[in-house]
Amino acid sequence: MDYKVGVISGDGIGPEIVREAKKVLDKVGEVFGHSFSYDEILMGGVSIDAVGVPLTDEAIAQAKEADAVLMGSIGGNTSTSPWYKLPANLRPEAGLLKLRKSLNLFANLRPAYLYGELRAACPLRDDIIGDGFDMMIMRELTGGLYFGDRRTEEQDGVMTAVDTLTYNENEIRRIAKRGFDIAMKRRKKVTSVDKANVLDSSRLWRKVVEEVAKDYKEVTLEHMLVDNCAMQLVKDPGQFDVILTENMFGDILSDEASMVTGSIGMLSSASLNDTKFGLYEPSGGSAPDIAGKGIANPIATILSAAMMLRYSFDLDREADAVEEAVRQVLKEQYRTVDIMPQEEAEKESVTQVGTAQMGDLIADKIR
Ligand code: IPM
Ligand code: MN
Repeated sequence: MDYKVGVISGDGIGPEIVREAKKVLDKVGEVFGHSFSYDEILMGGVSIDAVGVPLTDEAIAQAKEADAVLMGSIGGNTSTSPWYKLPANLRPEAGLLKLRKSLNLFANLRPAYLYGELRAACPLRDDIIGDGFDMMIMRELTGGLYFGDRRTEEQDGVMTAVDTLTYNENEIRRIAKRGFDIAMKRRKKVTSVDKANVLDSSRLWRKVVEEVAKDYKEVTLEHMLVDNCAMQLVKDPGQFDVILTENMFGDILSDEASMVTGSIGMLSSASLNDTKFGLYEPSGGSAPDIAGKGIANPIATILSAAMMLRYSFDLDREADAVEEAVRQVLKEQYRTVDIMPQEEAEKESVTQVGTAQMGDLIADKIR
């Protein structure tokens, strides 16, 4: 079959890591008899430089035309890049938020899994890692603080900034259902994370999640306060299966979860709506400090492409093949610099490779 993939290469390391994911997709096409066509979509800093805004209506239309969108990363150094001298609604990130909202991508799946081969890159003690961990963070993506009213104004002579955290019960219900659905295909446990001891939005969140849970009798539900969750992630990450949480908490906790897997360069993500369409992107940022050096880890992007095969195209066998290829390459001890701690560098059996070589190795293992 022919699949139409929108591609947002974006800024920083974006183009380098996306190139490797396309390489792997093309290999999947060759081996399994599919073809992928790519339509380059401008978003982020590159779009600002080219046309003055981070996302145009044409770019949104292009994304809607595609069967799914594969994205690298957007944004630059927030202290030095001229993009951050622009008003907030014209900065690179505004493009991504607008795209998520325009496509109604409310469900953000971020799997955090520790590969046995990467134990040495995990910053946690061996006894804490135990048998390893495998969790799915289900982050609400189109509500909460990210999309509430905001303003900065002078009130009685004092500069004051306001952001609002709003959720209605429908928004909570639809993401909660997604969380429970995913849990049913995994270890049947949902940890719903909130701040119900302080926030009204969290109290409503908890109430609606409990209502939804009644339709999933086989799933064990527990509630956890977000501050405690931040602590539990480094104390006992093995306890989590599905973490269900609102937008801002999910943003923060998913970075933390990625780091305990060894590197943010390993964490893929899928942003889904009510259709088969999805936006697939690594959870990490544009890493402007290493852009263009050919050392960025393309694995998160390659694993995001695997999620695209699975969730948007229903190509499970093909997705399995990509994930297995990644595992093989790690097993053969190939590492990009971010997953290669110093002690490993001295071992002769471990080979440090760059971005393109990692992509080649993985593509080569697709069969
Ligand atoms: C992410 C990123 C974005 C977010 C930024 C770039 C707006 O950090 O996808 O986690 O906060 O959602
Ligand atoms: Mn983030």
